[in-house]
Amino acid sequence: MRNIVIAGNWKMYKSNSEAKELVEELKNKTNDIIKTRMIVCPPYTALSIAAELVKGTNIQVGAQNMYWEQQGAFTGEISTEMIKSTGATFVLIGHSERRQFFGETDETVNKKLKAALQSGLNPIVCIGETLEERESGVTNDVVGKQVEKALADISTESMKKVVLAYEPIWAIGTGKTATPEQAQDVHKFIRSILFRLYNTEVGNEIVIQYGGSVKPENATELLSQPDIDGALVGGACLKAESFSEIIKAAEKLS
Ligand code: 13P
Repeated sequence: MRNIVIAGNWKMYKSNSEAKELVEELKNKTNDIIKTRMIVCPPYTALSIAAELVKGTNIQVGAQNMYWEQQGAFTGEISTEMIKSTGATFVLIGHSERRQFFGETDETVNKKLKAALQSGLNPIVCIGETLEERESGVTNDVVGKQVEKALADISTESMKKVVLAYEPIWAIGTGKTATPEQAQDVHKFIRSILFRLYNTEVGNEIVIQYGGSVKPENATELLSQPDIDGALVGGACLKAESFSEIIKAAEKLS
């Protein structure tokens, strides 16, 4: 069985003192969590602080982005080694906000994924359709292409370390969640691609998270779906109270 993985994407929120406060509160509220895997993804500036604070707990830390080169004259960019040196072990790749505002493409996602896997960081690769795409009935085409292009030349062995996050863009930060059935349909479709591209083992083992207005009120219903193995949480992860409630909902289902 796949363990549920709940990750919090802090986006561009939290100063260092606020980050410290949030992680400390989260630690207190989740010290009885055993089965659910928990990840926090603060901004780069707070990675070291978060990683230091979660030592000895089963919370892990992830970055929200990375660059594929190891070093060089790339002003403003951060390498995998730099991320690892903070103590972080995960990295988000291809979040829709990066695709939308910062020129991320399926090709750069693939380059980043290869570099992340090479470095030993655990990647969470994000995919998802716009409202227009959903309304014109091309969700599976769009998501299918994103998955195949992201995973180009990724071996079966490497693939076992990848987490996928399905985040319909129209559900991000809008308060509008995909219904459990809508999400399940796409998750099942994504898993069918993994069966086709890889094998039964990979298809069955890969964790596919759902993201888009996940809250304590809808977490149980979403996470109960057979192909939804976790959540990538935005707004509700900025408070320890709501994030830990989502984690507790996951733990009950584990
Ligand atoms: P919200 O939970 O705020 O909709 O954000 C989802 C998201 O983008 C997580 O990466």
